Amino acid sequence: MANDKNGWTRRQFVLSLGAAAIAAGCESKRRASEARRFPSTFRWGCGSSAFQVEGALDVDGRGESIWDVFAKQNGRIKDGSTPSITCNSYYRYKEDAALISAANLNSYKFSISWPRLFPTGSGSLNERGMDYYDRLTDALLQRHITPYVTLFHWDLPQRLYELGGWTSRDTGERFADYAVAVTRRLGDRLKNFITLNEPNVHLLLGHVIGNHAPGLHDAKLIGPVTHHLNLAQGRAIQAMRAQRNDLTIGVGLALAPVRPEGGRIHLLNDIAALAFDEIWSGAFLDSLLKGKYPLAVHQMLADVVKTGDMSTIHQGCDFIGVNYYSPSYLKADFSGPSFLGPGGTPAGVTQDASGREIDPSGLQEVLNRLTKDYGNPRLIVTENGCSDPLGDHAAIINDEFRIHYLSAHLRAVIQAIDNGSRVEGFFVWSLLDNWEWDSGFTSKFGLVAQNVDTGERTPKKSYAWFADIAETGLLPA
Ligand code: GCO
Repeated sequence: MANDKNGWTRRQFVLSLGAAAIAAGCESKRRASEARRFPSTFRWGCGSSAFQVEGALDVDGRGESIWDVFAKQNGRIKDGSTPSITCNSYYRYKEDAALISAANLNSYKFSISWPRLFPTGSGSLNERGMDYYDRLTDALLQRHITPYVTLFHWDLPQRLYELGGWTSRDTGERFADYAVAVTRRLGDRLKNFITLNEPNVHLLLGHVIGNHAPGLHDAKLIGPVTHHLNLAQGRAIQAMRAQRNDLTIGVGLALAPVRPEGGRIHLLNDIAALAFDEIWSGAFLDSLLKGKYPLAVHQMLADVVKTGDMSTIHQGCDFIGVNYYSPSYLKADFSGPSFLGPGGTPAGVTQDASGREIDPSGLQEVLNRLTKDYGNPRLIVTENGCSDPLGDHAAIINDEFRIHYLSAHLRAVIQAIDNGSRVEGFFVWSLLDNWEWDSGFTSKFGLVAQNVDTGERTPKKSYAWFADIAETGLLPA
């Protein structure tokens, strides 16, 4: 029998490899079923967005956003509800801060409403609007909660939309002006920023599928809207960094593994999934972090990319915010201009009340991919959560469903960290049951329930469960 240089027979070698593999398997099973501790520096948080929680749409000089207009159109919102009050956080923000603090959370992700600061998107600053964010920032800091501030969570000033919205390069310049105004006024206290929230969702649901504001249905907009969102982000990052050198600036992307309907043996669906992944993730990540667009979007962008744009977009960032809910499925669809169509979710998978498949392995996959393909960046899971089955008040409060969901996703985060990902935080979406865009009040994602009629907030079972984890850093087995 052949001996290798250490004197081992090939058989001994193979056996030892097998034993090592079994040991590793057992080790990973053991680790998957035991209590695990997160790093003591971990950021624990929850999130919200201006339009979903603030209300006070006509107060203190705020201007209209595209969502104000969209929500008033007939049939756009599932339950016909109005976003005029939502969670009334414009007035109840101190109560929100107290809830975040009592849950032992050290971070809160909220967004600034652009039309509250610049009612028509440009021109002079509306100081009264800015004052609200000044008050909110102080309320959080007083309770030792670090704010993570999103600059654009889809509520584009309506006037800018009328001037071309994201089909116009100029919108990006206005966005940079707005980012500078926020940095100048609040940058002494706000240090952590997220430029755009899920530009990929805003692009597709708002401009191609049309169930989000501004409600357009035009696949030809993919190129211009993608590029101008990226340019806006690049210009804003440049301008903010020129103002201050002590900011941590990240991006917030809805990331998900894109899977072919029916599995990879369906070759055309597989090609469709790969192409969609380039539009969905690559067009935003590659341009920001690698300075180039993936192949699938080259043709769509041919008319809009100008000399110098790619270096403006290629800013890099201090962290990537990962918003993860569920995997996506795609299929080839030759009836549409892009040959891509939404694929069906495999039969029998578990879903939440909003129909999203529950698959924590997708989160691990996304985190691993960012780590491997994008140079091991700092990562924060900036959104993760589920919509719980609606029932009576007692069923909503006793949300075991959410506890299972979050527990499984936190375990996926631990596994990603074990595999070398630099995940620094986990923010539950969301603090409160809020106004869930075109679903109105029919979808509830909160750790805290909200009575839409009275505004009364009631912590759910998951709130106390998450508070324990945030306090101890320990994820129970
Ligand atoms: C998003 C938004 C949130 C949603 C949440 C639940 O990811 O779509 O950031 O505003 O409310 O995701 O759908």
